[in-house]
Amino acid sequence: MRTSQPQTIYLSDYKVPAYLVDTVDLRFELFEDGARVHSTLELRRNPDSDEVSAPLELDGDSLTLESVALDGAQLAAGDYEDRGDQLVVRSVPEQFTLTVVTWIEPQNNTRLEGLYKSSGMFCTQCEAEGFRCITFFPDRPDVMARFRTRIEANKDAYPVLLSNGNDVERGELENGRHYVTWEDPFPKPCYLFALVAGDLVEKRDTFSTCSGRDIDLRMYVEPRNAEKCDHAMDSLKRSMRWDEEVYGREYDLDIFMIVAVDDFNMGAMENKGLNIFNSSCVLASQETATDLAFQRIEAIVAHEYFHNWSGNRVTCRDWFQLSLKEGFTVFRDSQFSADMGSPTVKRIEDVTLLRTAQFAEDGGPMAHPVRPASYMEISNFYTLTIYEKGAEVVRMIHTLLGPDLFRKGSDLYFERHDGQAVTTDDFVKAMEDASGRDLRQFRLWYEQAGTPVLNVSDDYDADKGVYRLNIEQSIPDTPGQTNKKPQHIPFALGLLGQDGQPLPLQLGAGEADAPTERVLELTEATHLFEFHGIESRPVPSLLRHFSAPVRVRYAWSREQLLFLMSHDPDGFNRWDAGQRLAVDVIQSLVGAPDDAEIEPRLVEAYRKLISDTELDQALVAKMLQLPSEAYLIELADNADVPAIHRARDAVLRHLAGALKAELIACYQRHQDGGPYEVTPEAIARRSLRNTALAWLLMIDDQEGRELAVSQLSAADNMTDRMGALRALVNSGFESDRQQALDEFYDRFKDDPQVVEQWFSVQAASDQAGQLPDIQRLLEHPAFDWKNPNKIRSVVGAFAGQNLAAFHNPDGSGYEFLADQVCRLDDSNPQIAARLVTPLTRWRKFAPSYSARMKSALERIRDKSGLSRDVYEVVHKSLA
Ligand code: PHE
Ligand code: ZN
Repeated sequence: MRTSQPQTIYLSDYKVPAYLVDTVDLRFELFEDGARVHSTLELRRNPDSDEVSAPLELDGDSLTLESVALDGAQLAAGDYEDRGDQLVVRSVPEQFTLTVVTWIEPQNNTRLEGLYKSSGMFCTQCEAEGFRCITFFPDRPDVMARFRTRIEANKDAYPVLLSNGNDVERGELENGRHYVTWEDPFPKPCYLFALVAGDLVEKRDTFSTCSGRDIDLRMYVEPRNAEKCDHAMDSLKRSMRWDEEVYGREYDLDIFMIVAVDDFNMGAMENKGLNIFNSSCVLASQETATDLAFQRIEAIVAHEYFHNWSGNRVTCRDWFQLSLKEGFTVFRDSQFSADMGSPTVKRIEDVTLLRTAQFAEDGGPMAHPVRPASYMEISNFYTLTIYEKGAEVVRMIHTLLGPDLFRKGSDLYFERHDGQAVTTDDFVKAMEDASGRDLRQFRLWYEQAGTPVLNVSDDYDADKGVYRLNIEQSIPDTPGQTNKKPQHIPFALGLLGQDGQPLPLQLGAGEADAPTERVLELTEATHLFEFHGIESRPVPSLLRHFSAPVRVRYAWSREQLLFLMSHDPDGFNRWDAGQRLAVDVIQSLVGAPDDAEIEPRLVEAYRKLISDTELDQALVAKMLQLPSEAYLIELADNADVPAIHRARDAVLRHLAGALKAELIACYQRHQDGGPYEVTPEAIARRSLRNTALAWLLMIDDQEGRELAVSQLSAADNMTDRMGALRALVNSGFESDRQQALDEFYDRFKDDPQVVEQWFSVQAASDQAGQLPDIQRLLEHPAFDWKNPNKIRSVVGAFAGQNLAAFHNPDGSGYEFLADQVCRLDDSNPQIAARLVTPLTRWRKFAPSYSARMKSALERIRDKSGLSRDVYEVVHKSLA
C-alpha cells in the first residue's frame, strides 16, 4: 500500500522517453502458487531525448525481482536499484539487452490489474498501467515494441494459451506441461499486451476482408457459455464490414480473438488481436439476455474492434490524450449502432447518458477537460467526459466538415500517424489539413472543462416579417478554471410555421432556395440571427439532433412544447420537447401538496402518443419514458431527492390511472406472435408492452398484475421475463413479488450474468431495495466481493439508481456506501473509487443531505492507507 501522499502528474511535464524498446521477449511460467516472468528487452537510447546521461528507469508494481542481466551478464546487487515502483540501472550503453526475471502472484491479485485469475483461468488487464504489475518496463504508451510471448502451463488445466498476434510454435514440456509461443508483428505499447490461459471452448468463424484475405475469428469462453457466443460473433462480422465501408479500415492480422472473463473491472479491452471482455458485455442468448444487453454487446464488440485502428495502429502519446482513442472510438461505435438500428433512437440514448451523467460530472468536483491537464491516478480518468463528451467533440467536427471532408480527414489521420503515438491536437490538425477549415477556436473544446450554457431569446417583427434569435454563450467555472473563452459551437435549428410546416431559413432578405434546417456557427459570446420572410411567429426547434453538448435555456411555453412534440420533423427534438414538458410538469409538483393538479395537456399528449400507430414505434417507446430521477436531480439546485421522487411518481401514477384503457390496448396490440427477433421493430414492441405493464403495476392494477404474472410464466426471452419481473418487483403486490423473485432465482442461479440482473432489479427498486434488503443481498450466497459485476449490481445499483432509498434523510444510505468503499479500497481500489461517485456530488443537494454526504466522505478520507484512486476522488470532492 501507499506510504507517501499521491503525486499529481502534469501534461506540461511531458518528456519523450529516454530509452526506446525495439523488441520484448516474454516467457511466462504459470503455476498455481504464482508465475515467473522472464522478460528480455532490446533497448536503445532515444535519439530524440535530450537526457543523454539519464539512468534506465523501468516501472514496476507489486513485483518480486529475482534477477537482472545486462547483455547476458548477471548484474550484482550494487549495479541496479529496486525501489519497488521502479527498477533503476545507472550505467547502460547506447544499445543493450536487458533480461529481468520477476515473480508475481496472480492468484492473490484482487485489483484485477496485470496478470490475475478469474474463475480458474489466467488473464490480463494492462490498460492503463497494469503491465508494470507483470514485469519491470517503461510503462507508457509512447514506447512501442514488437512482442514475442511464450506461455508455459499445465496442459490439463490450461489447454488454451493465448497472446497477441499469431501462434508460431507449440510443444510439450515435462510434468504434464506445454507451451505456445505468440508473435505480434505490429509494434505496440505495453498496455495492449494480453495473455489468457484456461480450459476454454473455442468458437470459430471467418471473415473475408475487402482485399480478399480470410481472417480467422475465434471466441474463447468457459464450456457452460458455449451457446452464448453467436450474437457477439455476428456483431464482430458486422463491425469489420462496416469499418471497411465507412472508414476504409481493413483488419490487419490473420487471427482475431475474443475472450470472456467473469471478473473484470471495466466493460472490455481492445488488446491487439486478443480482445478481453467482461462476460456481461459479450455473452448473450435469448433466454438470458435482454434487448438492452444485446444492443450493448453489439456496440461494445464494435467499439473494441474499431480500436484496432483508432487506438492500436494509431495510439496515444500519453494518458492525457486518452480521448484521442476513446472519444473517436465512441463516436465510431455510435455511428455504427445508428446504422444498424434507428439513428434517432440511438441519438436519444446517447444524449440521455450525456445529459444525465456527463453534465453532472462536468458540474461536479471531478470536472476536467476532454484533454485533462493533470491527474493523480489515471484510472480515475476513464470518465464520461473522456468518452462521451470526447465523442460529442468528434461529432461536432463531423457536423462542421460534413461527412466527405470528415472522411478525408480520418484517412489523412490514419495514413499520417500509422504506427505512431500521437495527441488530440494531431487529430484536429489532420481534420484541418484535409478540409481547409480553421479549427483553432474549436480546440478549446479539448482544453476547457464545463458544459457551455446557451441563453436563447427571440422576438418577432410582424411588420418586417423578421424573426430574431439572440444567443448568448457562457461557460461555468470548474475546478482550476475560470473566465473561459467562447467556444466554437455548431447550432442546428429549424423554424416551424403555425401549421407545423418547416419554414425556409433566409438569413438575408429574399435569399432564394433557403434550407429549412441550418447549422449556425457560434463563435462569439453573443450572436444575433435574423430570419427573413417569416409570415407569422414561428416556433423554434433549437439544437436539433443535439448538435453540441450544451445546455439550451429558452423560455418555452407548454404550448410550444406540445406543438413540437407532434410537429417537429426532427425526431430527436420531438422527443426532447416531450422531455422538457415532462420535466416542467414534474418540477412544478416538487414539494407541492398531494392534491395539486397535474397538467391535463400532458395526459392528453401521452394519450395521443400511446395510441399513435403511425409514428415510428421505437420513437414512441422512447417518448413514453419519463425523465429519470437522476436527470431531474441534475437539473435541480439544492435537490431534495425524496421530494423529486414523490413528484415523479405522482405524475407516473396519474398518467397510468388516466390512461389505463390505452395502456391495456397498447399492451395487447404489441403482443408478439412470431419467434423472438432482435430487430428495431421487435425491440420497440417489447419496450412498449413492458412500459405499459410497468405503468399499470405502478397503480397496483389487478389486470396489470394478471398480465405480468402470465407474461412471466409464458416468456420465451429475457426481455419479457425481466419486464414482468421488474414490474412486479416495483409494485405493491408483495407476495407476487417475492414468489416471482424466488422462482426466477431458482431457474437461473447457475448463470452469473442473470444473477447479476436479479440482484440489480432488487437493489434499484424502491419497493425491494431499502437498506435492510440491500444488507440481505450482500449476505446472499451468490454475492461475491471479489467480483466487480456483483458489487455493481448491488451496491452500484442501490446508490446510482435507487435514489430515494440512497438519499434516506437519516443518512443511512451514505454511511452504508462509505462502509463499502472503505472495505473495497484495499482489495480493488479502481472499483472503490468508482463507487464513491454519488457521494462526490454532495454540493448538489439540500443542506441536510449534503452535510451528511460530506461527513461520509470525510470518514472515507480518514481511512488509513487509502489508495491513490480513492484519495484523489475524495480529496478533490472535499476541496
Ligand atoms: N480501453 C477500454 C475501452 O474503452 C476500457 C478499459 C480501460 C478497459 C481500462 C480496462 C481498463 O474499450
Ligand atoms: Zn475504448
